[in-house]
Amino acid sequence: APMEPPDLAKCHPATDNADKRKINCCPPYSAATIVDFKPPSASEPLRVRKAAHKYNKDDVAKFEAAIAAMKALPAHDPWSFGQQATIHCTFCNGAFDQVGSKNLLQIHGSWIFHPWHRYYLYFWERILGKLIGDDTFAIPFWNWDTPEGMYIPEMYKKSGSPLEDTNRNKDHYTSVIDYKYSLGDPNPTPAQIDEVVTRNLAELDSIFKETLQLPALFMGKAQRGGEAAANAPGRNESLHGVMHTWVGPVTTPYHDMGNFATAGRDPLFFGHHGNVDRMWDIYSKLRGQKVEFRDPDYLESSFIFYDENRQVVNVKVKDCPTPESLRYSYSPEPLAWTTIRR
Ligand code: C2O
Repeated sequence: APMEPPDLAKCHPATDNADKRKINCCPPYSAATIVDFKPPSASEPLRVRKAAHKYNKDDVAKFEAAIAAMKALPAHDPWSFGQQATIHCTFCNGAFDQVGSKNLLQIHGSWIFHPWHRYYLYFWERILGKLIGDDTFAIPFWNWDTPEGMYIPEMYKKSGSPLEDTNRNKDHYTSVIDYKYSLGDPNPTPAQIDEVVTRNLAELDSIFKETLQLPALFMGKAQRGGEAAANAPGRNESLHGVMHTWVGPVTTPYHDMGNFATAGRDPLFFGHHGNVDRMWDIYSKLRGQKVEFRDPDYLESSFIFYDENRQVVNVKVKDCPTPESLRYSYSPEPLAWTTIRR
């Protein structure tokens, strides 16, 4: 069976990943009318997402203004920064049982990971655009697959900026990211930077080459409705976990980025997931846009989100096959891993 959206009336306390404390991630709309999602019309302007490290002053100012407006909303508003962050907790930390099952709803560790996060960013972007009255507004992506992008982008580090999050590992503010990083590893020395960058690119190269014929390896394995969490992430999801650990603090409970329950509280989460989504787009274009899984348990799986018109909508995996189908795209950047010599 496909995954089904939760029963809104049956939200219960969720559990923090790290310290196992109970947390409330229930959405502020427990009795909403739910309507079916309609993809945006092809005549809408295309929102073009740009690489964060290439943002100019105006780009930064616009993004900051949008985030500031979202942060200024009352805490209970479903559009507020805090509520938007909490959505991640809702679907990752067990605020809901699956309909007709005792198994918790979990959108990580399976083929659901990519489509769910695509929609999550899609609505976040459109809400931000609404808040500043700009229907071409697009969010940035953290271009961590190219050498110049393998650092935390500047705009997120500016103290006092709405893009800053003080719950991060500041030791990583000046260091190149190492895809092999595990919690507590020392930063690469200046003499090691080239080696780390080359190794990162080689890792991307092998991810794409080794998974091209078998989408489950890139996307994650099947997660069907009612079943326990598959716990079978694809290569792209596994790699993305490194950036979470890299950005988050080194001590428990690893709030914000280092913990599912709180990751959405860091604006960088959305830049990071922009690139995760972009990797999916690149993968799918390499495969000639053939849908990754033709299984109806995948295509008919559905989730709910609070949209930019203040409406709860039921979205289906089959309606987000490409960014363009949702009227956004990624500004082309050179794919550094395709040209490395090793
Ligand atoms: Cu929902 Cu980066 O995880």
